[in-house]
Amino acid sequence: MLIRRGPDIKASEITPKEIYLSRRHLLGGMAGAGLIAGLGGKADAAPLTAGKSAFSTDEAPTSLKDITSYNNFYEFGTDKSEPARNAHRLTTSPWTVKVDGMVAKPTTFALEDLLKPAKLEERIYRMRCVEGWSMVIPWVGFPLADLLARVEPLGSAKYVAFETALRPEEMTGVGGFFKVLDWPYREGLRLDEALHPLTLLAVGLYGETLPNQNGAPLRLVVPWKYGFKGIKSIVRITLTDKEPQTSWNMQAPQEYGFYSNVNPDVDHPRWSQATERRIGEGGLFAKRRPTLPFNGYADQVAGLYAGMDLRKFY
Ligand code: MTE
Repeated sequence: MLIRRGPDIKASEITPKEIYLSRRHLLGGMAGAGLIAGLGGKADAAPLTAGKSAFSTDEAPTSLKDITSYNNFYEFGTDKSEPARNAHRLTTSPWTVKVDGMVAKPTTFALEDLLKPAKLEERIYRMRCVEGWSMVIPWVGFPLADLLARVEPLGSAKYVAFETALRPEEMTGVGGFFKVLDWPYREGLRLDEALHPLTLLAVGLYGETLPNQNGAPLRLVVPWKYGFKGIKSIVRITLTDKEPQTSWNMQAPQEYGFYSNVNPDVDHPRWSQATERRIGEGGLFAKRRPTLPFNGYADQVAGLYAGMDLRKFY
């Protein structure tokens, strides 16, 4: 019910028109060409051409304004409004992503080469933050599995570790005496989670290249997990046989586990996870929605965890 075929909503139908029109359209054309055209600048949005996906939800997308102004990207500050103000400092071109570890073909990809064969799709996903709010985001991206296939994981690989760029000279939130997190930001997935067709590497949203505050030029999107698994501005992907360290688990292991599957039955130690506030819906007094197991993607992913005690492996 929550997943439909061939979503038909155009970005222009739901984005406040002035915002949509004020964005800079540089070049149309093929997915790769459009994207590469957008890589020359810092925060310029370039249009992307993407096919539609059977995995999209038919819920109404959150406005572009909310998606790009209410962010978590601690490298640019801990307040929700800071990434939108500060992330323009991040230089996203040139950009390389090193894919290494237990693979037959370790490769450092220039972003253009990483994207050349990618078949971009629009995927409208429900996103649930561990803090109790949610959004619906029309991502543009391609399956992480497609990239992993290019480097040929070895049979011994069991997990995938991810790292964000660390650039104190550009990132306003990583300096100073008090470190909010142990940088660089790190995340990880089990290999079967990484290979699941819902798991995306996103390069855009609302039909254009990613704004920096949303993790340009390349970020992870795992819609059945809490939002913090969606690591931004990725520079390294490492296949390994050990469960990777993850930033929030290192910071507060009793609050944030490795799996972080959305689960209304397992409370955060300091608050319930049973309901959520949909951003853009009538402010603080809007009725909260019930949170769904695996964020509504249980039909697709519950099988990955068959036999596991999800209270223990939270
Ligand atoms: N990635 C990095 N590098 N640093 C961060 O602080 N925050 C995470 C995740 N990825 C974060 C990150 C959290 S807590 C959330 S909820 C999502 O990004 C938010 O993504 P969005 O701002 O695009 O909605």
